[in-house]
Amino acid sequence: MAPCHRAMLPLLCILVFSTAAAVEEAGGGNVGRPTHLHFYFHENFSGGPNSTAVQVSKARGGSNNSSFFGAVFVVDDMLREGADPASQLLGRAQGLTVGASLSDGALLTVFNFVFTEGAYSGSSLTLLGRALLGTFMERPIVGGTGVFRMARGYTLSKMIESPDPNNLLVLEYDAYIWH
Ligand SMILES: *[C@@H]1O[C@H](CO)[C@@H](O)[C@H](O)[C@H]1NC(C)=O
Ligand SMILES: *[C@@H]1O[C@H](CO)[C@@H](O)[C@H](O)[C@H]1NC(C)=O
Ligand SMILES: *[C@@H]1O[C@H](CO)[C@@H](O)[C@H](O)[C@H]1NC(C)=O
Ligand SMILES: *[C@@H]1O[C@H](CO)[C@@H](O)[C@H](O)[C@H]1NC(C)=O
Repeated sequence: MAPCHRAMLPLLCILVFSTAAAVEEAGGGNVGRPTHLHFYFHENFSGGPNSTAVQVSKARGGSNNSSFFGAVFVVDDMLREGADPASQLLGRAQGLTVGASLSDGALLTVFNFVFTEGAYSGSSLTLLGRALLGTFMERPIVGGTGVFRMARGYTLSKMIESPDPNNLLVLEYDAYIWH
């Protein structure tokens, strides 16, 4: 891992280098070095020309029509440094969100987080997990490429108030990665 220098984005310099103690705490094995990333996920679901999500299947409703059950979206969402839609773009979240629960609005999400700026440019993380918007969500990181090859970890995320609530979904993310 290259050490941080002034040219890198401050956010991408939030690196926590491993110590023997940290590695032992995490399970005693060789789990790699820990990295913490903090960023914001932006989705424009307006359906208009600048939309970052396209719906390919409608919700079927199931026994509870408040759910998204059966809905499938393909997304190419934005990962940004801040909550402001004008803040620095760090990469994209490309993948699927699928309504996968008959009883609530829980989604299956499958994303590649593709970083395009700073120390992680050209590297990616793969996230696979359950998301229930409005709750504090934990999702597993199941792999990665480049700097993040063989990554394991998890993300914690929550929806935050959007400056454009009609067509923009903003989530604050913390990613804890061992790689
Ligand atoms: C989302 O897209 C719509 C049109 O596609 C656009 O009018 C709106 O400004 C966009 N929102 C943001 C925050 O970019
Ligand atoms: C889409 O985004 C471009 C570039 O930011 C902007 O010029 C254009 O006005 C936007 N279109 C709509 C419909 O919001
Ligand atoms: C949702 O369920 C209620 C009660 O079962 C029903 O009256 C309503 O038409 C349903 N709405 C939709 C959009 O299916
Ligand atoms: C329907 O969804 C609502 C909102 O998530 C939930 O509170 C309720 O328990 C659900 N009902 C059933 C029958 O699953």
